[in-house]
Amino acid sequence: MIVLGIETSCDETGVAVVEDHTVRSNVVASQTDLHARFGGVVPEIASRAHLTNLSLITQQALSEAGIRLDDLDGIAVTHGPGLVGALLVGLSAAKAYAFALDVPVIGVNHLEGHVETAFLERPDLQPPVLALIVSGGHTMIAAMPEHSRFEILGQTIDDAAGEAFDKIARFVGLGFPGGPEIDRIARDGDPAAIKFPRALMNEPSYDFSLSGLKTAVIRWIRDREMAGETINVPDLAASFQEAIVDVQVAKTIRAAGERGFERIVIAGGVAANSRLRALMKERGEMQGLDVIVPSVALCTDNGAMIAAAGMRRLMRGESSPLSLTADPNLVLA
Ligand code: KG4
Ligand code: ZN
Repeated sequence: MIVLGIETSCDETGVAVVEDHTVRSNVVASQTDLHARFGGVVPEIASRAHLTNLSLITQQALSEAGIRLDDLDGIAVTHGPGLVGALLVGLSAAKAYAFALDVPVIGVNHLEGHVETAFLERPDLQPPVLALIVSGGHTMIAAMPEHSRFEILGQTIDDAAGEAFDKIARFVGLGFPGGPEIDRIARDGDPAAIKFPRALMNEPSYDFSLSGLKTAVIRWIRDREMAGETINVPDLAASFQEAIVDVQVAKTIRAAGERGFERIVIAGGVAANSRLRALMKERGEMQGLDVIVPSVALCTDNGAMIAAAGMRRLMRGESSPLSLTADPNLVLA
């Protein structure tokens, strides 16, 4: 089965061709440059850029895969969660292709797509898995008992991890998106230099809270500035990053133990973070867990993850009606 995957939920236009769980092409047009000067994603600019890029990216994905539109057996498209205008661009295109080609369209939850990337690179991998999903808009621990089925065990009660990375990076004058910048600068810093709070670390729930950490970092910077001290940005970045990653890793591993999971998957843009990747592997493997860390290119938003998740559903005979629309708050279930 050959499926086209279309992802337009935020600021990456992604189109990919996946054939039976193998990625044949995966083209991403990033809009980072368009949003950078605003310090964040501007929804209307995102929608317009998707509209400009999508057809060209689709042609490129088909040609890199060496196939034609006629070869497609189905179209998978993100229908939520995300920015409504951005989602509608991908959805309109997906439905038009499906209608014209007379093939099924399947709406995919963006977060389900993130988790499916783990299975693309490890064909031997089977559910059940426990997923830590960390992105610009979400931070959660979810159980995946079987493909396409999820139970959220815990999630952030305030900011998402990527949002915290982006806000702190912006506060210290680093570029957008801030996650990769903090990650890069933190390599030269000492993660133990500053003791930032680890919220909810010892609570029995699997929930997260990041707004207190953000406030603590900003207060720490202001105090140093008031005292006329220079700030060691690499130490600050490394200590902030460590506070986020430490809680995420500890809670995910504890959840795996308490809920009887042997395999942990990390997914979403923040799963590209080098410290999260290393620490989850290190501590998880110490507990005898199989820790699956997708390659960096598959962690950030892309079309292959949507095609992969859609393929699972299409293979089971599922499809969506042509009345499929965007759901900005679509819940993972
Ligand atoms: O999954 P994603 O591409 O888009 C959403 O679904 O939100 O995630 C984007 C987020 C941004 O907040 C970005 O700063 C963060 O992922 N991110 C990182 C890294 N690379 C991307 N955060 C920390 N370290 C990274 N290396
Ligand atoms: Zn994402």
